[in-house]
Amino acid sequence: MNSFDYHSPTRLVFGKDVVEKLPDAIAPLGKKVLLAYGGGSIKRIGLYDKVKTLLHGFEIHELSGIEPNPKYNPSVLDGVRICKEQHIDVILAVGGGSVLDCCKAIAAGAKYDGDPWDLISYKVMAQDALPIVDIITLAATGSEYDCGGVISRTETNDKIGYLDPHLWPVCSFLDPAYTMTVNAKHTAAGVADAINHATEQFFVSPSNSVADGFILTIIKTLMKFGPVALQNPNDYEARSEIMLACTFGCNGLLNLGSGMSGWPMHGIEHALSAYYDITHGEGLAIIMPRWMRHILNERTLERFVKYGVGVFNIPADLPAHDIAEQTITCVHNFFKDTMHMPMTLGEVGIDGNRLHEIAHHIATNEGLDNPHIFAPLSEEDIYAILEASL
Ligand code: NZQ
Ligand code: ZN
Repeated sequence: MNSFDYHSPTRLVFGKDVVEKLPDAIAPLGKKVLLAYGGGSIKRIGLYDKVKTLLHGFEIHELSGIEPNPKYNPSVLDGVRICKEQHIDVILAVGGGSVLDCCKAIAAGAKYDGDPWDLISYKVMAQDALPIVDIITLAATGSEYDCGGVISRTETNDKIGYLDPHLWPVCSFLDPAYTMTVNAKHTAAGVADAINHATEQFFVSPSNSVADGFILTIIKTLMKFGPVALQNPNDYEARSEIMLACTFGCNGLLNLGSGMSGWPMHGIEHALSAYYDITHGEGLAIIMPRWMRHILNERTLERFVKYGVGVFNIPADLPAHDIAEQTITCVHNFFKDTMHMPMTLGEVGIDGNRLHEIAHHIATNEGLDNPHIFAPLSEEDIYAILEASL
């Protein structure tokens, strides 16, 4: 097992009506609050009014209209400007992962004199950031319990995921009831995203029993309760199980003591979202079985066997190659037949015209050929995975 030094400082407050504690969580951080949100879902579900009532004693400034695949321009730049002009003390992000990610970039940018893109692109490491509190309303990314964010820059087709230890939220409120209004498309995409986070961290070397058990449990939980939430969006227990499982996705817990992941499926999907603005979890569902098939070989076989037996209860006494093949088929069928997701790039509006350009962009920017990751990918490998996904 590898050595590690792990610290996750975010306070998690989970359950029905936990947002009542919001004023107590924000008060020690200051009076001037930037309330940031997306295209209006928080107004439709009554959360906006609730927050405004709870924070009546605070000075509230607002940033609205943060889009899915949040954009550097205008959202991050506008948020940084407001924070600097109004001397904001604390950022309150209310919404899905896109709102939260955008707020992380704003939090760092607000404490930096130069172009905030310097921080996102790792040209400069942040020295400080404004504190972030969030109310997450969509179970998917795990952004509420990690120090990362993903920001898109449209003019350069960049979608960059970056980590910074200053960006752990101070406090995250998770009320599964607020996720009941998430539609079927985004519920399925969220479940697929979180399954993918766990899977990315399963295909590593070395792995260990604790990490494997944790990962397999999370995937099984999502595969059990994802369909329940689709069937009955108001099922509080299903929404709770999904929300908790998603929360562990990206904060390093699933990778403790294990080898480096490299997050190859995310590297590929982020480029697809950057070029075509598709929904992250849908892109991952399409890529995942194709990536699995591409990396299956004698060396990787053992991981497929453990995954297939552990997640899908495929009989362990079958030949290993059969288990691996069945595993890939089960993954594909789960997304397609059980979660009713698009399973080809064509279905999400992507044709083959720019695949060489995209493969080159990924190979140049994502470091997927790093020999330390479990299954390094060359530009040709990336192209083959994209082509198989058409
Ligand atoms: O904009 P509003 O009106 O709020 O609507 C949103 C949006 O249209 C809607 N929504 C959110 N909560 C809702 C709701 N609709 C009804 N009821 C609710 N309670 O859902 C739509 C999608 O929201 P979005 O925030 O984009 O989804 P998600 O949480 O899946 O976030 C996706 C983004 O996170 C990044 C992705 O790349 C993508 O940009 N990721 C962030 C990660 C991280 N920080 O660790 C890791 C992930 O791998 C991922 O890359
Ligand atoms: Zn993801």
